[in-house]
Amino acid sequence: MLTLQQERARRRTFAIISHPDAGKTTLTEKLLLHSGAIHIAGSVKARKGRRHVVSDWMDIEKQRGISVASSVMQMEYRGHVLNLLDTPGHQDFSEDTYRVLTAVDAALMIIDAANGIEAQTLRLIEVCRARQTPIITFVNKMDREVRYPLELVDELEQVLGIPIVPFSWPIGMGRNFHGVIDAARATVKTFSPGWHDKLISPEAVYGFHEVTNTSSGDAIRDARTELELVLASAPAFSEVAFHEGRQSPLFFGSAVNNFGVQEVLDALVDIAPSPQPRPALERTVEAIESEFTGVVFKIQANMDPLHRDRIAFIRVCSGRFGRDAKYLVTRTGKMIRAGAPVSFLSQRREAIEQAYPGDIVGLPNHGALQLGDTLTSGEPLHFLGLPFFAPEIFKRVDIDDPMKVKQLKSALLQLGQEGAIQVFRDTSGASVLLGAFGELQFDVALERLRHEYGVPARLHETAFRTARWVSAATPEELAKFVSHHPGRIYQDAVQAPAYLFKTRSELDVISEQWPMIRFHQMRESIGRLALTQL
Ligand code: G4P
Repeated sequence: MLTLQQERARRRTFAIISHPDAGKTTLTEKLLLHSGAIHIAGSVKARKGRRHVVSDWMDIEKQRGISVASSVMQMEYRGHVLNLLDTPGHQDFSEDTYRVLTAVDAALMIIDAANGIEAQTLRLIEVCRARQTPIITFVNKMDREVRYPLELVDELEQVLGIPIVPFSWPIGMGRNFHGVIDAARATVKTFSPGWHDKLISPEAVYGFHEVTNTSSGDAIRDARTELELVLASAPAFSEVAFHEGRQSPLFFGSAVNNFGVQEVLDALVDIAPSPQPRPALERTVEAIESEFTGVVFKIQANMDPLHRDRIAFIRVCSGRFGRDAKYLVTRTGKMIRAGAPVSFLSQRREAIEQAYPGDIVGLPNHGALQLGDTLTSGEPLHFLGLPFFAPEIFKRVDIDDPMKVKQLKSALLQLGQEGAIQVFRDTSGASVLLGAFGELQFDVALERLRHEYGVPARLHETAFRTARWVSAATPEELAKFVSHHPGRIYQDAVQAPAYLFKTRSELDVISEQWPMIRFHQMRESIGRLALTQL
């Protein structure tokens, strides 16, 4: 049996981030294929009514062909355990993505070589940068006519604000894409298109001089000159700098052709960090501490339409997680038995006996666990860093059938706890608002209310444009502010009070009038315990 230290050392937990259509689903599928986790490439995909998207769960996703919920996949490669966390591609679900990013030690960023950095990627990069998450960059679709690699590198460096270190460099593009140069080994890996579903495409690796006399010799020499140019201005690769988010290794390839994918997997194993320490309110927790600790970063209800279930996704932060062990949920002070924990092989769940730092455990529960909860076998701790952001659109919920008020309340409580949408109630409890970042989030909420909970509801526009959670040095000051603003103070799912604004200028006026009150655009999942400003 491996020691805790060895189990930690062989784990990599990472998320794939990209703008929709850059090739995330395709790359995921190829990664799984290389690791032997699935055997037919394409089974992760579902576009255009063909096969079913394994990583997408909900009806609405199937209808629209988008990935709404994020999923978790575990695979083994070269004796390592890779935990891949998928993130929703659509920007309306960015809050879910932010939370998933708190559960990983690295990110794999996919760039469509024709488009460079796109809007959604930019937002994700900002989150990674704020957390100093190491980023590996994969420039995809080199088999198409795309932008010049030198230009892409410039753009990447500017946006990331850190040096890019090329590990591979493309030879040509589109119809004249000949392959990549391996920067460290000075070898050339040649490309042949059209090997979508094969694990081993007929690529071959040659020494540099073996291929410069072939028909693609000129293209290879040009690529080498470019590579040397970039390497001359880039710093030497440093694992420490990469782990601290100060350098990003760069790869080129074509996911759909399964070209350049193995290099990325190797990089994950060879240079990506193993599970890192995690800050808690009380202290920083090291991954190899013997007591188990974990944090809930995602709740998903009704993943399986046949069973009413609710699964908390827990990132193991330290120690060994054991099936049937009892753990303290710090927020409630209650113990929970870890019965029926599962790990994820895409949609398939597998029962597990134990899990190690970096692993993601799914724990079925009936509401005992909420987003941001810390579980521990030792001292009470509160992990930090799971963000909730102030929504930008607010809608009032209404139902036709007064007999369903109770169902609506419990359904909204669950959706709110899941973080699928934010739920705000005014102090009288009579007015209930849903807060979101995009219209699609409302569509999903309505669909789920009707489908999963049997509560057809309607939504009405409101004049509110933003919210700020409020706090003050003393409870009296906060109470005074709250009592002065009936109709504007709402409480969210964890009863943290927020002031709802109709205009941005209102925010300036109120904060000037009430200097004792602090207004927060973000709150930590631990709610009133630690309201922090971004
Ligand atoms: P996403 O999950 O990031 O949204 O992207 P996805 O993998 O679904 O890829 C988006 C489109 O880009 C797909 O085409 C996919 O086949 C294509 N693609 C992915 N990687 C490459 C690549 O290396 N080269 C080229 N030329 N195309 C690539 P689609 O037409 O939308 O779907 P499909 O009909 O191919 O399934």
